[in-house]
Amino acid sequence: MDREMWQPKDKTSNNGGQIRRFYAGKRILLTGCTGFFGTGIVEKLLYTCTDIDKIYLMVRPKQNMTMDERINKYFEDTAFDRLRKTNPNFMKKVQPIYGDLLKENMDISLEDYQLLTKNVDIIIHNAAEVSFVAKVSNILKINVMGTKYMLDLAAKCSRLKAFIYVSTAYSHSYNKRIEEKLYAPPCDLKVVEDMIRSDEATPNGISEQSVRDILGKWVNTYTFSKSIAESLVDDFSRKTSVVCSIYRPSIVVASYEEPIQGWIGNNKGPALLHILIGMGLLHVLPINEDTVIDFVPVDVGVNALLASIWDLMSHKKPTGTHVYNCGSSVWKPVYIQTNYTLFFKVVEKYPFSKMVWYPFVILARNLYSFILLHLLFHLIPAALCDAVLYVIGKETKAFKLAWKVTTFLSPIYYFCTGNWAVEVQNTQDILTYMNPADYKDFFFDFARVGADDVIYRYMHSVRSVLLNEKPEMLPAAKKRYKNLKIAHYTVCTVAVLFIVFFVYKSMCSYC
Ligand SMILES: NC(=O)c1ccc[n+]([C@@H]2O[C@H](COP(=O)([O-])OP(=O)(O)OC[C@H]3O[C@@H](n4cnc5c(N)ncnc54)[C@H](OP(=O)(O)O)[C@@H]3O)[C@@H](O)[C@H]2O)c1
Repeated sequence: MDREMWQPKDKTSNNGGQIRRFYAGKRILLTGCTGFFGTGIVEKLLYTCTDIDKIYLMVRPKQNMTMDERINKYFEDTAFDRLRKTNPNFMKKVQPIYGDLLKENMDISLEDYQLLTKNVDIIIHNAAEVSFVAKVSNILKINVMGTKYMLDLAAKCSRLKAFIYVSTAYSHSYNKRIEEKLYAPPCDLKVVEDMIRSDEATPNGISEQSVRDILGKWVNTYTFSKSIAESLVDDFSRKTSVVCSIYRPSIVVASYEEPIQGWIGNNKGPALLHILIGMGLLHVLPINEDTVIDFVPVDVGVNALLASIWDLMSHKKPTGTHVYNCGSSVWKPVYIQTNYTLFFKVVEKYPFSKMVWYPFVILARNLYSFILLHLLFHLIPAALCDAVLYVIGKETKAFKLAWKVTTFLSPIYYFCTGNWAVEVQNTQDILTYMNPADYKDFFFDFARVGADDVIYRYMHSVRSVLLNEKPEMLPAAKKRYKNLKIAHYTVCTVAVLFIVFFVYKSMCSYC
């Protein structure tokens, strides 16, 4: 279907959106509400689906706060500003439930367990340990065993109609084409339990080599755990009448429109890369220029998820597990080169005031050229910088920082160079069932998402929220940018002249 030609089958939006009506009276249990994606889900459900009956939010106490203190603080976040204005009584629809996926049966009290099993219509299991480098047993306990406990709970819910598992487009990333289907898991629960036991039995955990041997073609324990969790959901769907789906977003970035443009939440992962480049600290990336990047603005991802649940329960056969992918690579491909052209346009207009050098980036085609360029543009300049700092009696920290950048790049190298094609036909097909009100309320039509707008809004938030740059700091930042640009081109010109002179001299000595 040509997305620009989107035409609703149901042209009558007089009765409002079908998706809003679908959520009216529903009782939803959501995990992972305090995270980036979860916050988006909570906000959208409470803001748009005003007739929803209840959202049970599974939360654990953290940072010296009780669960209730945490939830109260949570709803003070700017993400909920528009909700507080339009629906100040929204807390009536919310019920926090203590639960920790690290603990057996999530440590839910008997009373809460009974409440949930009696009331819940839909479970959205979104919580996860998303760190690639967290302790192996923690990742497996939260992502795999936690999903098992959620499914055990689901099996006891008398009203449950649907179980939705938020996975990742990269759960089977050894495939370059990520289809909307289930793939075979790497192992069964017994292997996972053995890994957890071994990891916990030794002070330093299971050895890296043993983990690598078990992971096989899975790149890290996170993707490994998500693929096993997907298979648990599929096993469950075969045994019950509960309809199940696996929702796989690619890389979730700041919002396109909602709750405000460029809302970034706690999402610092991809932002760090852009901060390093914008600061002029990172100049070489191990990526081919024809690589297609994949991203999902958080609101687009949340809307697609909520629409997919409606689609699942309204149009799909109530058997088996349905898979919905959400990503831009196939729907609206953006090449890395285009991404950086847009990025540097924004940086030129809104530079960071703590920039250390003129920001530019070279895309290295292969690992060897990357290592060479990394040495030339990061490690050698850092060593020279440290030498100067040492001579003038200042603390030397440039090389340490450059080395940190190296270690930051190594785990993301795989994801930078992947060039995956995330297929989205099932998700695109939902659009054909939507009427104009649904389309407006739950917008996720990637064909109409402007990459330049996404980058512009994203960088604005990186600047103002993560770097705390105030508008009055802009003139000084622009001046600094201009000076660093002059310094950069001067250094480049001197270096080129030096090389030309050196080559000329060497040639003369042979003549
Ligand atoms: N962000 C992305 O780019 C991306 C891409 C693809 C898929 N996903 C998937 O989307 C989902 C949400 O990711 P996110 O980016 O929102 O991650 P996030 O910001 O790190 O949030 C993770 C959520 O899981 C909860 N959680 C973690 N451990 C828990 C435990 N032991 N018990 C109960 N809750 C626990 C966290 O609660 P606390 O606040 O208490 O820690 C938090 O609410 C995950 O399933 C992830 O795999 C994310």
